[in-house]
Amino acid sequence: MASYDYLIVGAGLFGGVFAQQAVQNGKTCLVVERRAKIGGNVACDVVEGIDVHTYGAHIFHTHHDRVWDYVNRFVTFNHYINSPVANYRGELYNMPFNMNTFHAMWGVNTPKEAKEKIEAQCAAITGEPRNLEEQAIRLVGKDIYTKLVKGYTEKQWGRDCKDLPAFIIRRLPVRYTFDNNYFNDPHQGIPVEGYNALFEKLFEGCDIILETDFLQDRERWTSQVERVVYTGTIDSYFDYCYGALEYRSLRFETEVLDTDNFQGVAVVNYTDRETPYTRIIEHKHFAFGTQPKTVISREYPSEWKLGMEPYYPVNDERNQKLYQKYKELAEKENNVLFGGRLAEYRYYDMDAVVFSALTAAKKEFGMVK
Ligand code: FDA
Repeated sequence: MASYDYLIVGAGLFGGVFAQQAVQNGKTCLVVERRAKIGGNVACDVVEGIDVHTYGAHIFHTHHDRVWDYVNRFVTFNHYINSPVANYRGELYNMPFNMNTFHAMWGVNTPKEAKEKIEAQCAAITGEPRNLEEQAIRLVGKDIYTKLVKGYTEKQWGRDCKDLPAFIIRRLPVRYTFDNNYFNDPHQGIPVEGYNALFEKLFEGCDIILETDFLQDRERWTSQVERVVYTGTIDSYFDYCYGALEYRSLRFETEVLDTDNFQGVAVVNYTDRETPYTRIIEHKHFAFGTQPKTVISREYPSEWKLGMEPYYPVNDERNQKLYQKYKELAEKENNVLFGGRLAEYRYYDMDAVVFSALTAAKKEFGMVK
């Protein structure tokens, strides 16, 4: 095997940005990826000419000009604005909670009327909220909690809101304008050429080996490299010596439909408790697609067991303590840089991952190119 300056474990966004910077700085990179394609959880499959977000809807949004300029060097972004709709037992509401939502819910027409309504309902909770239900009612009042928060949250976490800690919801976005744009960031969009094109550019100049788990033969891969960038799960790197970190998982049911427009918007949240899925994604709307057919994915939250796809880290005391122990081990590991959502056991938006990988590269190479 040839020798390389860097072994990059995982062809996701962190690995891609770091690899691009390494190559720009004259370094050689070998990339080892467990899956059959590059892109990590941002990767898409093309079905009926439509980019299908295989691992869940991915909308790029950021307030970092530097990150936005960086990604725009590789792909052009369209002007998609995320404006999800909530479906509660057939009643439709705009998200995030805004004047359109309040008008549909209560028939109010002005911010003053909406504020009075919410304030009257929040007053029901006095003292420190004891659980997520009380916290949510305090933030948005009883009606919005009951119709738009409760069922969705319970499906997501697999538990009753009364049994979930209040800190999970620190704030709920409430806007007293008629603005359905879900994000507050100044930059937002989806690559016109698709996310896969972004990854092809990021990994340009690297040797890539797919369908290969680094941990199955780590000596083989590390023997010929100077340094390792590891973006897999941190506990698996250390053979789960302190036990496994926990996640929530997701299952997607994807279907091609013989209609050109199924729901009229990319994201519909099903906020009642009875519908077993939390969302339906209609992928073509991310790209203003005009194909004759459409592809939808139903998203089902699920319990996670070792061996399943890890999606959301469980942000509780047990797991945070466990992660700190693995982090201490990682800090003692010579010549290995741990980065990305799995190695750092945290929920990371894409822009934050790009920022973090650029920061790591700057530390490594002295500058961002
Ligand atoms: P990522 O998981 O993408 O990549 C790691 C790679 O390493 C994977 O390809 C994996 O197969 C590989 N790997 C792991 N172990 C290995 C091993 N032992 N050997 C070889 N390869 C190995 N963000 C956002 O900004 N907007 C959005 O709309 C969304 N939407 C969204 C939806 C859902 C459902 C989730 C869970 C997350 C989002 N995100 C998001 C966040 C986004 O997915 C996240 O920021 C990036 O995927 C993180 O990239 P990483 O490179 O860190 O991990």
